[in-house]
Amino acid sequence: MAEINLLGIGLGATLTLIVVAMHFSKGTGWTPTQDISQDVLERRASTVAETDFPEPMSRAIGGGSGVAAGAVGGEEGAELEEGAEEEEQSPADMPEDEVEYFEVEFVKEGTTIELASNETILDQAEDEGMDLPYACRQGQCVSCAAHIQDGPGDEYVTHFKQETFSDDEIGEGYVLTCVAYPKASFSIETSEAP
Ligand code: FES
Repeated sequence: MAEINLLGIGLGATLTLIVVAMHFSKGTGWTPTQDISQDVLERRASTVAETDFPEPMSRAIGGGSGVAAGAVGGEEGAELEEGAEEEEQSPADMPEDEVEYFEVEFVKEGTTIELASNETILDQAEDEGMDLPYACRQGQCVSCAAHIQDGPGDEYVTHFKQETFSDDEIGEGYVLTCVAYPKASFSIETSEAP
């Protein structure tokens, strides 16, 4: 029994000495792994297709559309820009020397007044003291609707940003006086909707 204890103590002491010796030695020769992050990044970059988009805009979601649109460029982009400009052209912006004047008969009010082509029917009628119906004044409701007896409406007025009437309704002579600019003489019945 005493021999076993001595053997155990001896083994324990030997193992302890080995561990202590390893602790104070210069190590096992293992060296830490080099920082491989740069290698990984370069390898990943080599698998991504080249683009013409400048960084960091190509990573943008939603943002940077100005650059993207410019990058699309070409004739198509130019046409889109021109179209946008045309869309914004309002008769109210026409040069003074291009303004024309037309005789417009307001049937229900029993009056005829001269209207300019660069102001809406509604604005000019109000300037003349008429009390015509309206609500939004932006072509988005039907409060100011009126009817040109000799229709179609777009032969007599230019609508700027009307969003209420269909082409058929305008073809039948309906107009929105708040966004309608005269371009011919006509007779109109106010407070008339399809
Ligand atoms: S007032 Fe609303 S469309 Fe003219």
